[in-house]
Amino acid sequence: MAPAPASVILGPSSDLTPAIGTVFGPNTQLTDLLGNDEAVAALAKLVSERGVLFFERQGITLAQQKELMLRLGALSSPPRPNGSGLHVHPISEDSPELGADTSVISSAGGIARAGYVKNARASGGWHSDISFENYPSDYTMLKMHTIPTTGGDTLWASGYEAYDRLSPAYQKFLEGLTAEHDGNFFHRTAKLENKKIQSPRGHIENSGEDLRSVHPVIRTHPVTGWKTVFLNKTFTTRILELAPAESESVIDYLTRHVSENHDLQVRYRWQQNDVALWDNRCTFHTATNDYGSAPREGFRVVGVGEKPYFDKEGSKSRAESLAGSAGL
Ligand code: SIN
Repeated sequence: MAPAPASVILGPSSDLTPAIGTVFGPNTQLTDLLGNDEAVAALAKLVSERGVLFFERQGITLAQQKELMLRLGALSSPPRPNGSGLHVHPISEDSPELGADTSVISSAGGIARAGYVKNARASGGWHSDISFENYPSDYTMLKMHTIPTTGGDTLWASGYEAYDRLSPAYQKFLEGLTAEHDGNFFHRTAKLENKKIQSPRGHIENSGEDLRSVHPVIRTHPVTGWKTVFLNKTFTTRILELAPAESESVIDYLTRHVSENHDLQVRYRWQQNDVALWDNRCTFHTATNDYGSAPREGFRVVGVGEKPYFDKEGSKSRAESLAGSAGL
């Protein structure tokens, strides 16, 4: 028997744009889905297809966020590899009441402010969570408990759509290239805030103080089998196979391709206690620092996924895949 459609299992939702983003109203409560394997598996599949899901006015607690993140990994197809758990951010607060596997996203400092440069272009903030790790993230779940009266929106962009918009010749050129991702700027924040770099961070291969790794520029998403651009403005420093000037130019082109095509993005205006669940393997996101001194804070839980790979024979583009089906 065919599995029930996601709308039956998870409740009604609306797609916010054709390329990315789906929102569920407050009648869908993540706490109700937590004990239901079919629902968690449907959630894991849907977020990998749509990139980011929003859930309005949620009652989920931080402990339940962590439980759901573990179950999403266990019930996704294929499941998260053994050895990958919840990420501990290099500059996590590590407070006993929250646990080191909570990233506090706060206007007061820490992780959310580490890369922030006043007067720099807002588009400089686009990233995929923890892409500097050898085993980067599959899913992130962020619940915002404190929001400014206006401002503080978050934007996401689709890596699948970014890939699909490139010409076949440019796609082919990028496939097989690898890039360095560098998060060593967190050392500056650690020093300023008197913190120690945490290690290990959700996988034994995410250990030590050098926050650098190398990943394919075009990656195959293990759940959908779709190709996605995996390179971002915040962490990617160079493409290994290219000369420095060529690498700079390709990184500039691809990061502008993501930040300047607003039709592959979705912008979300938070209400208090909304939850966003996104897939870092096929999306980029950026916060908006336009709310002055108003407090803004949420708790983020980040799952560690697999080692990124590119499977030339075994992947398709999203457009190719949707053209061959009735659509999602
Ligand atoms: C994040 O980068 O994970 C947090 C996004 C936000 O603060 O809106």
